[in-house]
Amino acid sequence: MQIEEFSLERIQSLYENTVPYNLSDSGVHPYTLKELLTGEELAGLQEIQLGYGWTNGAVELRQAIAALYRDRTGDEVIVTNGSAEANFLLVSSLIDPGDEIVVITPNYLQIHGWAMAIGANVKTSALRPENGWELDLDQIEDLVTDKTRLITICHPNNPTGALLNPDQLDGLIDIARRHDVYLHGDEVYKGSELDGDEPMSIADLYEKGIATSGLSKAMALPGLRIGWLVGPAAEIYDTWRYKDYTSITTSALSEYIGQLVLAPKRRQAILSRSKTILRENRALLTDWIHQHPRFSFFPPKAGGMAFVSYRANIGSTALAHSLREEKGVLVLPGDVYGLDGYLRLGIGERKAQLEAGLERLGEHMQQFS
Ligand SMILES: Cc1ncc(COP(=O)(O)O)c(C=O)c1O
Repeated sequence: MQIEEFSLERIQSLYENTVPYNLSDSGVHPYTLKELLTGEELAGLQEIQLGYGWTNGAVELRQAIAALYRDRTGDEVIVTNGSAEANFLLVSSLIDPGDEIVVITPNYLQIHGWAMAIGANVKTSALRPENGWELDLDQIEDLVTDKTRLITICHPNNPTGALLNPDQLDGLIDIARRHDVYLHGDEVYKGSELDGDEPMSIADLYEKGIATSGLSKAMALPGLRIGWLVGPAAEIYDTWRYKDYTSITTSALSEYIGQLVLAPKRRQAILSRSKTILRENRALLTDWIHQHPRFSFFPPKAGGMAFVSYRANIGSTALAHSLREEKGVLVLPGDVYGLDGYLRLGIGERKAQLEAGLERLGEHMQQFS
């Protein structure tokens, strides 16, 4: 099997843990266990038996996840190691070689790469930057054929932080429904909306809607590696067959913590911390961009990143590498999304890190015309 290198993840893995100024993450500065848990809960950790759990996730955790959605039960949820495993299981169980899928781009390209590897015919429809990253519904309609099995979108979007307006989301669901195809939302940034309410999940809006999500981004807990799939019970059951072959279970420790943080008030408190950090940093970045007119962006509406376009006589991969080598700042090049001329800047880090990273980026750009 041929599989493309997942360059977004590879760049981060190679450099993000050693670089002095890491502006490559898309989530929010993660909690330590000590910050997150009470003394009693920390003590509870010591009592956990380190055995295997249910391979589709602890019953109570699945129920807590189901409660985030409308009229769902734990049978319509499977717990996974990150939303990455959830996406992997979704494609593995739903897509056969020769099936067509439509990926709305830009996107976290995991589904794109894995579907290509298993022999699917992957078509893409791009969000339109000229309109603040809106869907091109006519183009999506044209791409769907009787071989299309799935349309997939990342919403809120990685890397643009864009949110669909409700009419656009309805339009997308209408296309999926008329063609009787699955619609998947990678919703791992849901809950970190900076200006308004949390949007409805695709799983709540469409009978063949499936959502993947997890605790890594809006919830600032990537090290737990807790993700999930939610959707129709039969399709979720199908993904379970693959889970037994991949990782069997998630960690007992992570399931315990996952259950605690998904209690409604606790979840809101965590999301509120995330939004405070992100709002402050978005304002900082907006000011910086006003002072650096060769950069421009649509301020993100959700998530821990901004997709910033720049004007300079250097491609984004070369720019990102030189910035890291010369100034110790890691950002992601737009090239990893197939969009040169952009940088993805993390805005979920501590303010001082972002400030220092932006200052160095400003200095670095002076050498380019
Ligand atoms: C859109 C999207 N989906 C999935 C993932 C995987 O994250 P995790 O497995 O930590 O939930 C990422 C990570 O960056 C992401 O941006």
